Amino acid sequence: MDKINIYKINQWKNKKFKFAAITAYDFSFSKLFSDYGIPIILVGDSLGMVIQGNNSTLNVTLENMKYHTKAVRKGAPNKFIISDLPFMTFMNKHQALKNSCLLIKSGANMIKLEGNIRIKKIIKYLSKKSILTCCHLGLKPQNIHKEGQYKIYGNSIKDKKNIIQEAIILEKSGANMILLECVSNNISKIITKKLKIPVIGIGSGKHTDGQILVMHDMLGINKEKKHKFVKIFLKKNISLKESIKNYIKEVKLGKFPSKKHTFF
Ligand code: KIV
Repeated sequence: MDKINIYKINQWKNKKFKFAAITAYDFSFSKLFSDYGIPIILVGDSLGMVIQGNNSTLNVTLENMKYHTKAVRKGAPNKFIISDLPFMTFMNKHQALKNSCLLIKSGANMIKLEGNIRIKKIIKYLSKKSILTCCHLGLKPQNIHKEGQYKIYGNSIKDKKNIIQEAIILEKSGANMILLECVSNNISKIITKKLKIPVIGIGSGKHTDGQILVMHDMLGINKEKKHKFVKIFLKKNISLKESIKNYIKEVKLGKFPSKKHTFF
């Protein structure tokens, strides 16, 4: 089977072929998602919450990320794996490069960094060193204390201008992908149209090039914490395989996310 790489993902954007991505943290789920056709797997620092049981992502370490990235890579040797740089592990360009390399050696194809235009110099530097980067904009869980709450982005005029500008500047700085979390539908539509690089969304409407869900949300493992943008695909009388296939199909056909799962 052909390996998934950034050129393929860029082609999907150009051909308007919508793709599904998901988080995974271990070998077994990574293998399942890979075998059933998910092309992009994120080893997210959400593991602090869904694996370690913390109430934020702030305690995740680089060692944690290396450990889980290695396991996920073993389950999905041909898929495109993105790994998060955790909180305070990219304080300057040198630290960002050193830690990105460690994640790449653990099996990642691309490194995801939460941030805004303040990380543009880091993105530029990583790009010069041939590291693929994904910039995570909108709701940024690593900023929880600064923001005070998890909120939707793009409703105020200021938010709207800021986030569109951020995405454009980060693309110019060399970012290879943008992930938008909880960004209102019309803003993520504008960003996806304006950028040449692929845009993946979570809680950001149906217009992004790809969609991503945290696997525990998609499988309904965290029922008591269900967010508006989440759809549980694993249902009574539906197998794990069918639920993953349905997720891929609904994203491809533009059926998920529906209006019910979108912030306007
Ligand atoms: O860490 C993570 O799992 C993420 C997703 C919410 C996209 O960043």
